[in-house]
Amino acid sequence: MYLKKRFMAAAIASALSVSTLSATATAGEVEVLHWWTSGGEAAAVSVLREMVEKEGHTWKDFAVAGGGGENTMTVLRARAVSGNPPSSAQIKGLEIQEWADLGFLANLEEVAKQEGWDDVLPPVVADIMKHYDYYVAVPVNVHRVNWMWVNPAALEKAGASVPTTLDELWETADKLKAAGIIPIAHGGQSWQDATVFESIALSAGGPEFFRKAFVEHDQDTLLSPQMETVFDQFRKAREYLDPGFPGRDWNIATSMVIKGEAGMQFMGDWAKGEFTAAGMEPGTDYLCLPFPGTEDAFAFNIDSLAMFMQRDADNVSAQQTMARLVLSPEFQETFNLNKGSIPVRLDQDMTPFDSCAKASMETFQSTSESGQGLVPSMAHGMSTTSAVQGAIYDVTTTFFNSSMSSQDAVRQLASAIRAAQ
Ligand code: GAL
Repeated sequence: MYLKKRFMAAAIASALSVSTLSATATAGEVEVLHWWTSGGEAAAVSVLREMVEKEGHTWKDFAVAGGGGENTMTVLRARAVSGNPPSSAQIKGLEIQEWADLGFLANLEEVAKQEGWDDVLPPVVADIMKHYDYYVAVPVNVHRVNWMWVNPAALEKAGASVPTTLDELWETADKLKAAGIIPIAHGGQSWQDATVFESIALSAGGPEFFRKAFVEHDQDTLLSPQMETVFDQFRKAREYLDPGFPGRDWNIATSMVIKGEAGMQFMGDWAKGEFTAAGMEPGTDYLCLPFPGTEDAFAFNIDSLAMFMQRDADNVSAQQTMARLVLSPEFQETFNLNKGSIPVRLDQDMTPFDSCAKASMETFQSTSESGQGLVPSMAHGMSTTSAVQGAIYDVTTTFFNSSMSSQDAVRQLASAIRAAQ
């Protein structure tokens, strides 16, 4: 299998007659495939576009709508199979390795060395961006997934308090419901279901349980009574949604919290980009809080741009310029202020960031240093292959939209994961 992959890699590279060496030419084009189309996301990606254009290169925007990126990945596969991949695509986590194994990705070592990427990136991030020992992708940010977004005015109206445990969460949800406010804003799409499911798993089981289940795929953990509890709690969340939830986009759900139609949303901190774009202030207009019971944990989701091999020297130059810009402190600041995430550079000045980002950075650093509580997000492609992730999505979404028992769900989860490995 390995040899076959290496052979394919060599064949693709020679078919493209690629140069990954730095180009002497200057003005080229970068075609960037991404799924950043919501208000906050679009504001963030336009920062990169402006910076690339300022350097004299052309930006060809290739945006495919659909939160979580499933649609984007389908489009990417089609383009790659037809021998015409874009020069850069938002690819994350283990999928970077899958594309690099197939020989599609360019070697970014030269720019990485020049810019000292190894010195400014946390090793947990650098490892994801490297294939063997060289960079094939550049990270743009760090998102925390286990957040809860709250409209404080809605809670006040309902006489409810901010929950810090799962039990308190359901009490708050009951009060909101009684006051005629939608307790939980949610969009019924597999990746959003999985996002809520993983926060509940982190809360009900803790980080070690999470790691055993979603990183190691330990069958005993997957089949444990604890996992049944996770499904019970996940089912409970279903009681607090409005009838319009199926298929709803995540940013529409966020806007329900912004308007006070709903009290809470469980979503990663890209949701903050929507509050920011709506001119709202954290701490007063909205609250960012760890998902109840996960204050000491950090489920990380790192966005990154992988670079595809290019024939044209000018385009190689544009691609390398973009890679350099992405890790510049200027880009890291402006992009992440708009995106809701935190910068990925260890030496970034956090002064311009709000209280949510500062809290996020503090937990990211403390959990990285202690080695406790930092877990890769399953729902966002950080913990496992796309095949296993897809298997988990299928079970969680089917369970959420049916009357399947938690016992059956646990059995199905364990066997679906085993089959996909
Ligand atoms: C995540 C991605 C975020 C955000 C979100 C919703 O997978 O990492 O950057 O875009 O999807 O689209």
